[in-house]
Amino acid sequence: MATSRVDGTSNGSVKSKDEEGATPSIFEIDDSDLQRLLEKPRQLNTERKRSFDERSFSEMSITMSPRNNFYKTSEHSSRAFDNLDGVYSPGRWTGTPRSAYFEPHPIVGEAWEALRRSLVNFRGQPVGTIAALDNSSEELNYDQVFVRDFVPSALAFLMNGEPEIVKNFLLKTVFLQSREKKVDNFKLGEGVMPASFKVLHNPVRNTETILADYGESAIGRVAPVDSGFWWIILLRAYTKSTGDTSLAERPEMQRGIRLIMTLCLSEGFDTFPTLLCADGCCMIDRRMGVYGYPIEIQALFFMALRCALYLLKRDCEGNDCIDQIVKRLHALSFHMRSYFWLDIKQLNDIYRYKTEEYSHTAVNKFNVIPDSLPEWVFDFMPTRGGYFIGNVSPAKMDFRWFCLGNCVAILSSLATPEQSSAIMDLIESRWQELVGEMPLKICYPAMESHEWRIVTGCDPKNTSWSYHNGGSWPVLLWLLTAACIKAGRPQIAKRATELAESRLLMDGWPEYYDGKSGRFIGKQARKNQTWSIAGYLVAKMMLEDPSHLGMISLEEDKQMKPQMKRSASC
Ligand code: GLC
Repeated sequence: MATSRVDGTSNGSVKSKDEEGATPSIFEIDDSDLQRLLEKPRQLNTERKRSFDERSFSEMSITMSPRNNFYKTSEHSSRAFDNLDGVYSPGRWTGTPRSAYFEPHPIVGEAWEALRRSLVNFRGQPVGTIAALDNSSEELNYDQVFVRDFVPSALAFLMNGEPEIVKNFLLKTVFLQSREKKVDNFKLGEGVMPASFKVLHNPVRNTETILADYGESAIGRVAPVDSGFWWIILLRAYTKSTGDTSLAERPEMQRGIRLIMTLCLSEGFDTFPTLLCADGCCMIDRRMGVYGYPIEIQALFFMALRCALYLLKRDCEGNDCIDQIVKRLHALSFHMRSYFWLDIKQLNDIYRYKTEEYSHTAVNKFNVIPDSLPEWVFDFMPTRGGYFIGNVSPAKMDFRWFCLGNCVAILSSLATPEQSSAIMDLIESRWQELVGEMPLKICYPAMESHEWRIVTGCDPKNTSWSYHNGGSWPVLLWLLTAACIKAGRPQIAKRATELAESRLLMDGWPEYYDGKSGRFIGKQARKNQTWSIAGYLVAKMMLEDPSHLGMISLEEDKQMKPQMKRSASC
């Protein structure tokens, strides 16, 4: 049995460098080295210049609600959020402006209606939102509730003071996690969370069934590595937003977190603290050359580890898990901040790398051959700015820019404050390439001709500048907005949001746009794609009230060591 079913009685309507080579190897570092590196990573190109954000802070605060003098205090520092971690539940959106200072865009109301139309019920209770409500194209799996797709919907509902659906979703998915899952005869790990699920209605027996997919039905049989991470991140968002700790404290939720942690913290042959993944394991769920250590998964992994640390109870079972998490976080942040980070100085260092170095003192630790540097990266890299590259493994650096991983790195504080600013600088200086006419490029640049054939396996959906291969995905707007606010650069997000709202409703909320600047509605893009709708709403609500950011952002934790309060019985 490859799928999991939950039978029930129906009563609801359901639609079916390390420091310039001076640091020890990763195997030698001790806590003090690490602490030093965490606090002061390799010198970055962060020479400041006034961005359009700084110029327009005062302008922006005029259009914000009174609560939002936040921007004035942020001084480009995420520390302004130290006090925003608390509980805040705003009034519900009713279609009329909530504040005399904030005039909602006319499409906000339409977006809410469309989001509500996408609700999926199980036994009369909303449990998620459908991926897309587009009757004009074949449904395939777009009639399912995807875990990753539901995240922006969930945030929209939380920000609007409607946490019930999020709670239902979290409970339903943790239950699905506990099912036995198999692909052909192969049994998957206990902690695997589904990629998606569907509620089936049997009108004869008047029953409802939940059918979940863990990758065994998915095109290409791809593994949903990101699902468990998003689930933990969402559980923390729910807890932060509502102040209700009782959900996360339930035994099944604690077990759910521990099972996910067990899956990704298990020891193996790895020489790196990053998580080894097959292609198609995340938002990019098709062959796109992201196998290895993709930035999207590493950033989500880091964030999920930190959220788990926040959520796990300090009891016998929790404490063992917490010990492992703390160790991994130290190693992972060092590795990512040192080896995945690219700016002009680092690029120049790689360009001059010597190869075939053996020993702990190697500078070119992964034996990257300078000839493998793609030509485009020399033009793309601005003098000021930087980003986390797509992948790092032996003799391989994927220099492509991936949006989700970089935004999540900022939100989770995997990126240092300097790195966060540098990512923002890069977005500003490469606006045409990354934003163009529709936010936001999923990755840059696109693969073409021979490379496209070899890497994607001639995928006709992922042709150059389309879909996952350099397409523009409106859903990414919420992540950009959250990252911009965290980095103290909201004006960048405001500019991107204005671009999106000039077209999204008119174009029918497409899933993605095609072309170098995102001018065309995607070749095979679904319309009424729920996460395009929800992503826009979340971006708008965060711009209106930046305190919402607290539920999806984590402050830098210099120590990354929780006080271990072991219970007497341990
Ligand atoms: C596509 C996307 C994936 C998304 C799914 C449902 O497969 O690549 O990220 O979850 O559609 O919208």
